[in-house]
Amino acid sequence: MNVLLIGSGGREHALAYKIHQSPLLSRLFIAPGNGGTGSLGENVALAVNNHAAVIEFCGAQKIDLVVIGPEAPLVAGLSDQLREAGFDVFGPNKRAAQLEGSKAFTKELCDEMNIPTAKYAHFETLEPALTYVKAQGTPIVIKADGLAAGKGVSVALNLGEAENALKNCFSGSFGAAGSSVIIEEFMEGEEVSFFAISDGEKFITLASAQDHKRALDGDKGPNTGGMGAYSPAPVMTPDLIAKVEKEIIAPTISGLAQRGIPFHGVLYAGLILTKEGPKLIEYNARFGDPECQVLMMRLKSDLLEILLASARGDLSGIVARWHEDAALCVVLAANGYPESYETGQLIEGIERAENPGAKVFHAGTRYKNERLLSTGGRVLNITATGKTISEAQQRAYLAVKEIVWPEGYFRTDIGWRAIKEKQT
Ligand code: AMP
Ligand code: GLY
Repeated sequence: MNVLLIGSGGREHALAYKIHQSPLLSRLFIAPGNGGTGSLGENVALAVNNHAAVIEFCGAQKIDLVVIGPEAPLVAGLSDQLREAGFDVFGPNKRAAQLEGSKAFTKELCDEMNIPTAKYAHFETLEPALTYVKAQGTPIVIKADGLAAGKGVSVALNLGEAENALKNCFSGSFGAAGSSVIIEEFMEGEEVSFFAISDGEKFITLASAQDHKRALDGDKGPNTGGMGAYSPAPVMTPDLIAKVEKEIIAPTISGLAQRGIPFHGVLYAGLILTKEGPKLIEYNARFGDPECQVLMMRLKSDLLEILLASARGDLSGIVARWHEDAALCVVLAANGYPESYETGQLIEGIERAENPGAKVFHAGTRYKNERLLSTGGRVLNITATGKTISEAQQRAYLAVKEIVWPEGYFRTDIGWRAIKEKQT
């Protein structure tokens, strides 16, 4: 079978790594791919936002399955157009991708289906929003509705911060995404990432994982796309998993189906484990990055078989099996990320880092004349396995030491929460 994988991050390198292992695979294309995916398939310079060009490529290369990694093409309706042209696609259609693209859409679904989430209100002008914040008090959470590259959320600790955040949104700092604002109750508790793959009706749950969103050690500094992850997340007990499936995932999938919007793809729930139980922070319509990297290291089953079953609308008989070993991923990012940073820097030491049990997934990289250069903010994802999270952590940091890239930085405490929980 021929597969086209769309995307260029560490998530896509990890997906390519697993798809490449499948006995079902004939040819793998990655558009546009990165310095790592080129050794697993053919990187192709397709303009992914030109849907007609993607469809033409799929016809010419006899593609049997398109796997869409990032959210932007989903929200832009690439799945819809590929399906109309007769191709199987892993990734929800435009309407279902509103789960990620529109916070207001998700909140309405939560209301309708009784899904536990933060209490909220929705505003389109500044004055009523300010009045609401004053009545509710702080801490309170202000969110630009729509895709704001992860930067549209402020946890305001006092009224001044809340006012600044609101003015920022309404003054157009996030473009169209900020013209509509959600104000949410602040939820207190540990955050986890929860993934389910759906065929529109049924779903299978993936292994548990936790991310580290802040840039610096001790969960300090600005929010990022994710600086490291591990799986399993010890805090996710079987009881909690069952509760999340029943109270959050199942009503979401069925609520969408009732609206005539079947969800074919991976549903990524960002959760907070509050004293009253797990609550939804937000949905994404794609795999988490770097959570995907640790999940792919632990997945025993044939990924391609699972993706195909979801795309074709029948997951019956499909189970995801996992290696017992834990996996942990450390992200190497360019100095300055998530704000401004430089690209085009030389990176060395990948082969030395890939000792048994450790794998280097590329994110923002490319090869030029056989030299590996940085091309983005998050650049490498050093991922290792081990009998315990501590062992995976040790192996990952040993591998990190082998990488020579003076202009990069990483957190030194990935996994701290899981390791602390084990010790207490
Ligand atoms: P989001 O972009 O919605 O994932 O939000 C970014 C981060 O803000 C989350 O990872 C949480 O740490 C935090 N956050 C978002 N919403 C809330 C909330 N209602 N209560 C507490 N923290 C939140
Ligand atoms: N790791 C967070 C995200 O993928 O959004």
